[in-house]
Order: sequence, then structure tokens, then C-alpha cells
Amino acid sequence: VGLDLERLREDTPACARLTHLNNAGASLPPRPVTEAVVGQLRLEESIGGYEAAEARQDRVERCYDALARLVGSDRREIAMTESATQAWNTAFHSLPWAPGDRVLTGRSEYVSNAIALLQAARRYGVQVDLVPDDSSGRLSVEALEAMLDPRVKLIAVTHVPSQGGQVNPVVEIGAVARRAEVPYLLDACQSVGQLPLDVREIGCDLLTASGRKFLRGPRGTGFLYCSSRLLERLEPVFLGVGGAAWTGPDSYRVRGDARRFESWEHSCAGRIGLGVAAEYALEVGLPAIRRRVVWLADLLRQRLRALPGVSVHDRGAPPCAIVAFSVRGRDSAEVARALRAERINVSLAGAQAARWHAAPREQASAVRASVHYYNTVADLDRLCAVLPVCAAPSSSRASR
Ligand SMILES: Cc1ncc(COP(=O)(O)O)c(C=O)c1O
Repeated sequence: VGLDLERLREDTPACARLTHLNNAGASLPPRPVTEAVVGQLRLEESIGGYEAAEARQDRVERCYDALARLVGSDRREIAMTESATQAWNTAFHSLPWAPGDRVLTGRSEYVSNAIALLQAARRYGVQVDLVPDDSSGRLSVEALEAMLDPRVKLIAVTHVPSQGGQVNPVVEIGAVARRAEVPYLLDACQSVGQLPLDVREIGCDLLTASGRKFLRGPRGTGFLYCSSRLLERLEPVFLGVGGAAWTGPDSYRVRGDARRFESWEHSCAGRIGLGVAAEYALEVGLPAIRRRVVWLADLLRQRLRALPGVSVHDRGAPPCAIVAFSVRGRDSAEVARALRAERINVSLAGAQAARWHAAPREQASAVRASVHYYNTVADLDRLCAVLPVCAAPSSSRASR
């Protein structure tokens, strides 16, 4: 599929020892990312933290260029954060909320965003309204449009929900938001690094993401895109010397770019690593990455469906890299633990992540296997060969 798989796997040394199918949790970082992070820490060790930051300022600056290219924005529209949740909360709480304002969001909104919305309902008197899904399980654009009124002050949507292989119709949602002139906040945490993203095509005003997932960056990194149009109207809820200058005894001036949302203190190593991860993804090529992960995930779904007692829960098209499944009569957490013991990493799509879903089937937790381009068909074969053993009651497993 146009990828130099051998080289990509060589860059990912753990591939040789491990079947890592937890890329929706945190991907294995490629070697250049780890080297960049460790290199910066070593420099800090040898010349001092501030001095090392100064010496490598150009590397940090490159990160803004790479992230801007990754999402199709201007570098002035990018702020780096410590997580996607931090980016989302910073953006959300910087909007000027008033009692009676409405937020439209989807049923598959990420758990932390949902908690923040519920908190906003209590704190600001904001009304949170859930847009129903369409028959394919994606957010219904028609329903969204019908729910608009002048009180709607934000459309907040998750691109790829963390609990299953569904992709929301973000471009169509953007068209609705543009027509209504309502700010549009897109959580792209699970899509960045696995799908091509273009904020101009999507039409979102705010986009949030973390570094460690499909982007393969270091843990403790994330970023926020804020359109220059909205930026002018948005003063950060938290402001310090990272985002503003103290200009006189009674005055301060907010930065003109999206870095107004940043805190002064940060992990330089993390930011440099995030930039390298973004450059790496761009070099591999997002269209090729999407083709491969969709192909691998489809193959995995087919193979899992062929196993007795296994149900695949993904809904909606187009599909993506996340596969959620369960084994009849078995606790998903126990299945995941047993797979880990076999050096197969998966995670859980927990019930906590789907409290706004109506169907009881989705309230139970499922096993989440998320593929990346460096995974192989042999990885899928291993999972499917080992799964029946791991899903067997522990007494029969012990006698194997
Ligand atoms: C869709 C989605 N949004 C947001 C987040 C939160 O990301 P972070 O842990 O970097 O704050 C996650 C994490 O799993 C996620 O899946």
C-alpha cells in the first residue's frame, strides 16, 4: 500500500517483541521521537534546563510548522498543551458563557468532554443538548440542523469516538456550523495521525488533539488549533506570562497568536518530540496511513466475526482503526488482562465512555483493539489465535 513497512517497523523496535493493538490508548513512538526526547533531557542534564531550551528553540519552533501542516492551518493558530483534555477545557472555558446558552453535542462525546459539559451546565447555567445518531450510528447532521436556534453558542463534536470504529461526518457538521455562524469545537484526539485532517475543509474553529495516540508522540503532549477568526474574540480563561505580557502596573497584553493559550512552563523534550512525531506522520503520509489502518481494522473485524462467541460492536461507516468486540460470557477486562500476559496489548472501551448511548448493548464494556500502520496481518493472526484461549475460563487456561 505504498508504505515501507520494513523500515517503519525497524523504527519501532518493540514491534519485534510485542503485538501492540492499543494505538487508541498510546502508540509505540518511532525511534526518532524517542531519540529527540531523550536527547533534550540529556542536554538539560549537561547544560541546564533553561540553557537547553534556548539551544534548541529552533526545534520547538519547527513543531508549530509541523502541527500546522498536519491540520492544514497557519502556525499562528497552533498552541501546544499537555493533553487533549487540557486543550479542550482551555478552549471551552474561554468562550463567554451565559445562562441559557445551548451547546449541541453528540452521543459519543468523549467522557472528559461530557463531564466538562455537565459541569458547565451547573456552573454557567448552560443547556447541553444531545444530537441523536442517524441509522448508521453517526451523528445525524439533519437532526443537528433542526436543533439550531439563536441560543446555540457551540457545536462540540468528537471526530472518532474512543469506544468504537466510527467516524463522525465532520465536514457536513462544519457546513451546518458555518451557515449558522456557530463556533465548532472538534475533538480530533483519535483521528489525528490516523486520518488526514484539514481544518479549512472541516470548517471547525477549534480542534483539540493529544500527541501520544495515533500521532505516535510522547505522553504528556497535546495541542489546540484556534482559527484566527475566533482567536481575536477569545481571551484565555487562564492567562500567565506564557500567553500575555505585563505591560504596566495595571495592564497586560494578550499574545496575538494561539500561543496565548499556552502555559510558560512545559516539557521542552515533550514539545520537541511532538514536533518530530508530526513530521514523521507527514513523511509517512496520512492518506497512506488511513488506507492501511482501515484495511487492517476491516480484516480484524472479519476475522473476529468468524470466531465463535465473539461479537464486533463497531457501528457506522466509514470505518477506522478502532475495533471494539466482546466475547460471550467473558468479562472484557479479564480477556484484556489474559491477552497482555501473552504480550498482546489491547485496552477497554468502557461503559463509562458511553453513558449517552441509548442501546443497553453498548453499556457493557468491550475489548478495544486499535491497529496502526506498523501492525501486520501476523499481529491480527496472533490475536485471533490466542483469543479463544484467553477468553476461556481461567481454570481451563491454567491446565493448558
Ligand atoms: C476522543 C478522545 N478525546 C479526548 C481524549 C483525552 O485525551 P487526553 O488524555 O490527552 O486528555 C481521549 C483519550 O482517550 C479520546 O479518546
